[in-house]
Amino acid sequence: MRTCLLYCIFFPASLKCFKTSSPTNLPQQKTNYDIYREQLELQRRGIPLWIPESNGSSSKIYQRTGATIGDVGIVTPFGAFSYVFNICLPRDHPSQPKNLPEDFKPISSTPMDIQKFMEFKSGSHLASKTIHKISNDGRSTDFIFETDASEAAILMLPEGSVAHDLENIPQIKAYAASNIESWYRYINGTRGRQAKNGEIRLVIGCDKTTSWGMAVIDSQER
Ligand SMILES: *[C@@H]1O[C@H](CO)[C@@H](O)[C@H](O)[C@H]1NC(C)=O
Ligand SMILES: *[C@@H]1O[C@H](CO)[C@@H](O)[C@H](O)[C@H]1NC(C)=O
Repeated sequence: MRTCLLYCIFFPASLKCFKTSSPTNLPQQKTNYDIYREQLELQRRGIPLWIPESNGSSSKIYQRTGATIGDVGIVTPFGAFSYVFNICLPRDHPSQPKNLPEDFKPISSTPMDIQKFMEFKSGSHLASKTIHKISNDGRSTDFIFETDASEAAILMLPEGSVAHDLENIPQIKAYAASNIESWYRYINGTRGRQAKNGEIRLVIGCDKTTSWGMAVIDSQER
């Protein structure tokens, strides 16, 4: 699948380290991803990802498909989806981790009814309500947007996107409810994450695209 980055705001190259000195309680500044997520969550299409491409250290097969229905994982503070395992795949599938809990059994009793349709056509965008598209004369491939707001965000979909949605949700909810404790034990324990209550996610739908562009407007005086 082609993934090309069109317009993008990159984080400055940075080192992510533990603080070793005593904490000084600096006020926390909003990151670009905080703004992007707050703004696009209002569109009610789930959790906006700031890093939509697949994780380069995951298995080749997972990199090809990316996040899919049935994935269990955590959305990182940097806006990537950190995949842990998938509840629809058998234990020995190459996308599954080797050390799944002993009692792991995939949800196999009911077939997943998944609908897929091209929801956004080529050249669509998803943006804050305060953003207006002011130009695209049909011939040019440039898009110009305008806003008066101090905070806003846009996701541009030059080739459109396909929505994947699970339809039979009650079964998967019941399966999750009876396994959630063991998932937290596995993810916090064996996998060494620090997932607080509510942070472990089970994917029931996603919007997939082959190319995208993102922008954040942040002109707040701080
Ligand atoms: C990326 O993949 C590696 C290897 O599977 C995994 O350990 C890591 O948690 C993943 N990170 C994210 C953000 O997906
Ligand atoms: C998992 O770890 C986090 C961070 O240490 C903690 O806040 C949370 O309560 C733990 N959750 C469970 C279910 O053990």
